[in-house]
Amino acid sequence: MPSPKIKKAVIPAAGLGTRFLPATKVVPKELLPIVDKPGIQYIVEEALSAGVEEVIFVISPDKGQVVDHFRPAPELEKCLRERGKNDLLQSITFLTDKAKYSVVTQEKPLGLGHAVLCARQAVGDEWFFVFLPDDLIDHEVPCAVQMLKPWEAHGGAILAVMPVPWEEVHQYGVVKAAPLTASLGKVESLVEKPKREQAPSNLAVIGRYLLPPDIFGFLEKIKSGAIGEIQLTDGLAGLAKKGGLYALQFEGERFDIGNKGGFLEANINYALKHETLSQKTLDLIKMLAESR
Ligand code: G1P
Repeated sequence: MPSPKIKKAVIPAAGLGTRFLPATKVVPKELLPIVDKPGIQYIVEEALSAGVEEVIFVISPDKGQVVDHFRPAPELEKCLRERGKNDLLQSITFLTDKAKYSVVTQEKPLGLGHAVLCARQAVGDEWFFVFLPDDLIDHEVPCAVQMLKPWEAHGGAILAVMPVPWEEVHQYGVVKAAPLTASLGKVESLVEKPKREQAPSNLAVIGRYLLPPDIFGFLEKIKSGAIGEIQLTDGLAGLAKKGGLYALQFEGERFDIGNKGGFLEANINYALKHETLSQKTLDLIKMLAESR
């Protein structure tokens, strides 16, 4: 039974999605489908499975469609009801009343730390999750649920981390952590997008964070960091200094759906679990999956 104690999740979804142009000229990248479900819906379902009751989307002014996906669509619902398409009706309504969906606008793309800071008022004085919609994690126990256990045990902020090839560390926030168990470490320091030779380890932060409201105090003091943006990682460094930050090596397979390769691999992975595809399609996908 997931803990009901973390009630809010922040999902920054303000990026331009330039890596997926022309597909994202009109459609926000977070709504591109992994099989038949927008990537961001997998994230919202994970948040809800961990007991979240309110999802706060941080979007740029032109990305209202992202939250529309989670709101009622009366005309379409009426049409499906009249035609007796109950499965389809269920597929578009089951999330709408399961949580509250709020929107915060990030006027300018000033970085992930800034996006999280924009949600300060909506979060208030309580612990909350941050989910990055580019990172899908597939496991029978959702990553956010896995994070609740060390949070309950240690009472500190929790980052999801995984080892990445050393030649990729420059794409991530990277932690230096003192091991507590095989899968949990206490974070001593962290750095955003380090050069390989400056990285303290190859343990990269993947887009799941369980954070205290104190993070906002650190974020508001930050000046631009790596690549001229306000980095969440620099705010997390403040929590680490106070000794309240832990890194959990989660179980599950992670897909970076913010790039084309990861997006296609995620489609293959989730298609294999899809009941409505034909045997012919499944056989083809299995062949592709096996050759990965
Ligand atoms: C962001 C974070 C980085 C983290 C990564 C995980 O980077 O800034 O610390 O490791 O997400 O996907 P981005 O991918 O937005 O450049």
